[in-house]
Amino acid sequence: MSKIIKIFFSPSQTTKKVVEQIAGNFDSSGETYDLLHFDSAKEFEKDDIAIVGMPVFAGRIPKRGRERLSKLKGNDTKAIAVANYGNAHVTDALLELVTILKENGFDVIAAATTVSHHSIFDGVAVGRPDGDDIKKINEFAIKCQGKIDSGESLTSQIPGNEEYVAYKQLPFEIICDESFCSFCYDCISICPEKAISDDDPVNTDLDLCSRCTACINICPEDARSFSGDAFEAKKPAFEEANSERKEPEFYL
Ligand SMILES: Cc1cc2nc3c(=O)[nH]c(=O)nc-3n(C[C@H](O)[C@H](O)[C@H](O)COP(=O)(O)O)c2cc1C
Ligand code: SF4
Ligand code: SF4
Repeated sequence: MSKIIKIFFSPSQTTKKVVEQIAGNFDSSGETYDLLHFDSAKEFEKDDIAIVGMPVFAGRIPKRGRERLSKLKGNDTKAIAVANYGNAHVTDALLELVTILKENGFDVIAAATTVSHHSIFDGVAVGRPDGDDIKKINEFAIKCQGKIDSGESLTSQIPGNEEYVAYKQLPFEIICDESFCSFCYDCISICPEKAISDDDPVNTDLDLCSRCTACINICPEDARSFSGDAFEAKKPAFEEANSERKEPEFYL
């Protein structure tokens, strides 16, 4: 029987949620590779079905997620690719994800862009994925099962440019309010960039930090947040410009 392999890089957990939602439609047990933590080589079987989710970071998949995903090899393993974004733009991220998977020996059978709560600008896509999203994601998963049964690969064209938009480091600061911090060190262990000082969570190296949001999401005291003039200046206009609802798109 096929194993369902869930693979995701999901600092604020919504990409994980989408991957799990798709996986829940398959009547199989499986394995999970959370690329915030898993950083090793692994080869999957031909019979496995991989559901691979990446968030969109400035029109690309996150650099660290890409690097870790590149260590995972398929063996003509069927894969479903999901680029999960915050209701702004996907740009080249889904094309990038599908291309890496194909280069690494996966047989991509379907792909999707899904919309989730924006992990930086928290007024955008609030509450998503919501009931309508989940319904569409479940319908997509059922179509994916049909494609797996028929042995067909992905035929739809994926939007994006082959020359991907350049990586962009966002100028926003991440701060830790020491008066809230309980010094549990969870942020230090989860940070994929080792940007937070080993013995002082208040000290974040913003040159190393990718602004991924994992530390903000894991902090039990809400001590960590985006801050600074650049962030405050951008927030209202960004939230206004991206207030109109976008819908998930599916490619078979
Ligand atoms: C550094 C960074 C860059 C982002 N860039 C984009 C973007 O280009 N387009 C977009 O729609 N959303 C963007 N987002 C929002 C995320 O794609 C979105 O919130 C996604 O749901 C996050 O996934 P996660 O919950 O698995 O971390 C960005 C978020 C971060 C942290
Ligand atoms: S310090 Fe930066 S890179 Fe590290 S978890 Fe926080 S946002 Fe991500
Ligand atoms: S996760 Fe929050 S409370 Fe824990 S050390 Fe980091 S900032 Fe402090």
